[in-house]
Amino acid sequence: MDRYVVFGNPIGHSKSPLIHRLFAEQTGQQLVYETQLAPLDDFDGCARAFFQQGRGANVTVPFKEDAFRLCDELTPRAQRAGAVNTLSKQADGRLLGDNTDGAGLVRDLTVNAGVSLSGKRILLLGAGGAVRGVLEPILKENPASLVIANRTVEKAEALAHLFADLGPVSASGFGWLQESVDVIINATSASLAGELPPIASSLIQPGHTVCYDMMYGKEPTPFCRWASEQGAALVIDGLGMLTEQAAEAFALWRGVRPDTAPVLAELRRQLA
Ligand SMILES: NC(=O)c1ccc[n+]([C@@H]2O[C@H](COP(=O)([O-])OP(=O)(O)OC[C@H]3O[C@@H](n4cnc5c(N)ncnc54)[C@H](OP(=O)(O)O)[C@@H]3O)[C@@H](O)[C@H]2O)c1
Repeated sequence: MDRYVVFGNPIGHSKSPLIHRLFAEQTGQQLVYETQLAPLDDFDGCARAFFQQGRGANVTVPFKEDAFRLCDELTPRAQRAGAVNTLSKQADGRLLGDNTDGAGLVRDLTVNAGVSLSGKRILLLGAGGAVRGVLEPILKENPASLVIANRTVEKAEALAHLFADLGPVSASGFGWLQESVDVIINATSASLAGELPPIASSLIQPGHTVCYDMMYGKEPTPFCRWASEQGAALVIDGLGMLTEQAAEAFALWRGVRPDTAPVLAELRRQLA
């Protein structure tokens, strides 16, 4: 049986094994997909040992940059992101690294939620690994503007500089922004601590602005709750992004794209 894993630390609560089991059942693919706790000081050793036999792996916090360095080959989007969330063993034994996070986010927004990003004023909160992965796919949708706002402004500035050749991207501090935008994407981990990035409520135009939190949970995240209270037109959490980035990885490994809608519905049911 072909073996796949998701590497992380911690990894116990990962939904990836369930998602890939459902994809495999739906598409009639024979595979095993498990979690693997990688030691913080030896991701490389752990990954190399797995790939003696294994076919592919997903990579989550905090190893996406380690995975980037481990690869023999990179897709252009992984190269640009500087982070890898999907590893595939090629026929010649070489490891190919991809980053499917951005494609997952864009598909969840544009296909599942029907929100076009073309010509929109987009605000991206955060400047960590997740933002690195989504900048190129968002800029490919041709937004009117893309502002990266972060607590540590220098990190937002560095990313804006790195992606400036791909479109109208700029950097900001949270408090500097007042004027409403079309789409706000929260890619900070503030929700993990039950916190909200300190942004002005005037950024939301009631009945118009779409708000997306990459985090998800049983209850609405603090950002989703806040966005609803401000009258956002649409409030979406990151469960769809998680499912869509997994579908991209599955398609890369198995050559067949699963239907994500029933899998997302099952995840929602189990979360509730
Ligand atoms: N749904 C999905 O498929 C998916 C995929 C990837 C990531 N995610 C989620 O996206 C989030 C970010 O992940 P990541 O890998 O980018 O993490 P990361 O690299 O650790 O970056 C964390 C970011 O959050 C900011 N931050 C942390 N605490 C904050 C607070 N209290 N107030 C304001 N900003 C704060 C950090 O700002 P500083 O730079 O100032 O420290 C940084 O920009 C996580 O919640 C993760 O679970 C979801």
